[in-house]
Amino acid sequence: MINLTIEDRDGGRQTVEIPEDINLSLMEVLKASDHHILATCGGMALCATCHVQVLEGPEKYFKATDTELDLLDTLPDAAADSRLACQLRISEDMDGMVFKIKGEA
Ligand code: FES
Repeated sequence: MINLTIEDRDGGRQTVEIPEDINLSLMEVLKASDHHILATCGGMALCATCHVQVLEGPEKYFKATDTELDLLDTLPDAAADSRLACQLRISEDMDGMVFKIKGEA
C-alpha cells in the first residue's frame, strides 16, 4: 500500500491508502477519497483548480513541469513547491508523502 497524508484547507490531516498497482493521478485519488477538489478540466492541465502543495516527499516531486508552471504562474498563492494534482501519477516512491490541498473550494 502507498500511504499519503492529505492536509485539507482547514489544516486537518487524513491518511489515504492506495494500492501499489493503481494507475491514477493524485487528483483522481483525492476525488475518490472525498477530498474537496474541483478539478474542473478533468485532468487536462487547463484549470489549475487541482493545485496542491508538496509538504514532504522525495525531492523530484517538488518540481513542477513546464506545463504546470504555465498554469501555476496564474495563481496568486502558488509557491515553489506547488504542483497540479492531475499531473502527478501515483507511484510507489510516493509512499509517506504529505500534500496540502490549495485549489479553490
Ligand atoms: S484538473 Fe484541471 S489542471 Fe488539474
